Amino acid sequence: MKTFYLETFGCQMNVHDSEKVAGVLAARGYTQVDCPEQADLILYNTCSIREKAEQKVYSRLQQFRRHSDGKLVAVLGCVAQQEGERIFERAPQVALVCGSACYWRLPELLERLEGGERRLAALEQNTDETFEPRLARRQSPYRAYLTIIEGCDKQCTFCVVPFTRGRERSRSSQNILREARALVAAGYTEIQLLGQNVSSYRDPSPAGWDFPTLLAEVAAIPGLKRLRFTTSHPKDFDRRIVTCIEENPVLANHVHLPVQSGSDRVLQRMRRQYTREQYLEKVAWIKGARRAIAISTDIIVGFPGETEEDFQQTLSLLDEVGYDAVFSFKYSARPHTAALKLDGHLPEQEKGRRLAILQERQRAIQLRRNGEWIGRTVEVLVESFNSATGQWVGRTSENRVVNFHAPGEQSSSLAGRYVQVHISRAGPNSLAGELAGL
Ligand code: 5AD
Ligand code: SF4
Repeated sequence: MKTFYLETFGCQMNVHDSEKVAGVLAARGYTQVDCPEQADLILYNTCSIREKAEQKVYSRLQQFRRHSDGKLVAVLGCVAQQEGERIFERAPQVALVCGSACYWRLPELLERLEGGERRLAALEQNTDETFEPRLARRQSPYRAYLTIIEGCDKQCTFCVVPFTRGRERSRSSQNILREARALVAAGYTEIQLLGQNVSSYRDPSPAGWDFPTLLAEVAAIPGLKRLRFTTSHPKDFDRRIVTCIEENPVLANHVHLPVQSGSDRVLQRMRRQYTREQYLEKVAWIKGARRAIAISTDIIVGFPGETEEDFQQTLSLLDEVGYDAVFSFKYSARPHTAALKLDGHLPEQEKGRRLAILQERQRAIQLRRNGEWIGRTVEVLVESFNSATGQWVGRTSENRVVNFHAPGEQSSSLAGRYVQVHISRAGPNSLAGELAGL
């Protein structure tokens, strides 16, 4: 019996790609194991969005150099696409380098490696072939990722993604609906539609649906309880998405709308294609919806040429929007990106200083926002039991993490269920309370 170990870095797209890869390997008779030492095949599904993420795979490869005798080592994902065959020079134990547009070729590639070929690289992106999603082995039995669009046609000057994931390719609406219905039939109650930029979804079939239409059709599948989507680029974020959320209770009360900066000057240098004012207009649509919708964002601090004044504008945007969650990062120079050539690159220390200030500011906002939930009862999809704290962990429709006590419940009884939780405490990153009803 052959075994494989698969470690994933990076975003939800990568997590879901790994589920597909695990499915293909299982169909070929491989069994998944928890540590590389036990595996015949070691795969790293990598991320290169920031330099730190990229370094992780090299430190892993270093670490497991000595275990690699007789094993096949594969590097998948964004670092594979970005570095290509250079990986073989840096890490000679690697036998396979495979970018995400080539995963559908994995069965053939593995067969050739098992047949004795020493090294293979699969990096082409000019294919319409999509990886067979039917085989995906999803980690959770009730929350499922579902890819609707791959790649990205925007050209943000900081971002390596258009290079590592290629041009935008949307899946046909019928194909997506078929998978969504099959997921619901298999017991999944939450679906998260995935893409680098879901709001530019364009159905390639004659139906020609845009994203709001697709969203409404998926939401209408009987038995589905929660529908999420990520990520929306603000430029393509259509007001009809908000209408769709208002009209379909199945759509979660949450929109992730990455802003990156609060300064028009920086937004322009990032080539984001919107101004602060245009972004705020979209935020106003969301805030004006008939039910409350949580808003989260991504922010980069220390972009080349960002002045103290630009940074202050990002801080004031945090106050103005009052985000429910913010993912913030220090700018990291990436290969193949236009920002490399901009002037005004900032020292690491200054980027770190700005990041700390921003995170402190947002922490206070989240503490206040989360505090508003104390005393309310919310619906939580239970994910797991934390035996260290004796609490259950789940999420609200707004995507807030809730830890709660449920005296008398068996430790396997609540996972996957929707329960009512009375909120009694709030921290910056989560809520806590007690079970109030099943
Ligand atoms: N440096 C820092 N953060 C980046 N992101 C993308 N590229 C970079 C970069 N070069 C962030 C953006 C994006 C999120 C997924 O990662 O905020 O929205
Ligand atoms: Fe990167 Fe911009 Fe595409 Fe997002 S929309 S993945 S930030 S290029």
